[in-house]
Amino acid sequence: LARGVTAPDLAGRHVVVSAGGTREPLDPVRFLGNRSSGKQGYALARTAAARGARVTLVSANAALPAPAGVDVVPVGTAVELREAVLAALPDADAVVMAAAVADFRPASYATGKIKKKDGQEPEPLALVRNPDILAEISADRPRPGQVVVGFAAETDDVLANGRAKLKRKGCDLLVVNEVGERKTFGAEENEAVVLGADGTETPVPRGPKEVLAETVWDLVARRLV
Ligand code: CTP
Ligand code: CA
Repeated sequence: LARGVTAPDLAGRHVVVSAGGTREPLDPVRFLGNRSSGKQGYALARTAAARGARVTLVSANAALPAPAGVDVVPVGTAVELREAVLAALPDADAVVMAAAVADFRPASYATGKIKKKDGQEPEPLALVRNPDILAEISADRPRPGQVVVGFAAETDDVLANGRAKLKRKGCDLLVVNEVGERKTFGAEENEAVVLGADGTETPVPRGPKEVLAETVWDLVARRLV
């Protein structure tokens, strides 16, 4: 390798990244969704590939071009995202859940477009819980030593919320960023603290999403067996 070129420290590794935001359909034309652009997840996929990893990118509704040399698995809903992640997991060395997964989905799906009725108020929308994919894959790792990383967007006491979430999920690393008006969603830059289950805290100053992605892979690479 030429001097100055990053060593391919993820060569021979398989990593799974989820990106984007799930959409939970109500009827053929409507869904419950969120504001995730997918940019952070795509940056994670690109940087892992550049470091030599085989990358499976489970992409939920991201309007972004497929990164070169990355296997993209398109999904729509949280249930589909879970299936795709679990299918890619058995031989994975690490999984990073950057996708914004809907916590709830409509309890029923109308096969025909929902119509309003003259003079009637709408029915309340019944929702059910989606599976918690990060908690599930943290608890049952198909491969010993697999590194599991989550993301959390928080408000208020961001670090305390992040610590509690890391414990609850059981993952190895949690990337915590503060959200609010004009922060994070759709932006080119991100600012975060990466919390480790081992008690470490790695602050990542405001900068391109690639910089945060490289920091995540540095922390993952150190934990790979
Ligand atoms: N996540 C997941 N499955 C879900 C919800 C979230 O795998 N059903 C993952 C996300 O991909 C992310 C992490 O869990 O990596 C944290 O998501 P977040 O929404 O912050 O966590 P929740 O447990 O849903 O907490 P909250 O009630 O604050 O939304
Ligand atoms: Ca949530």
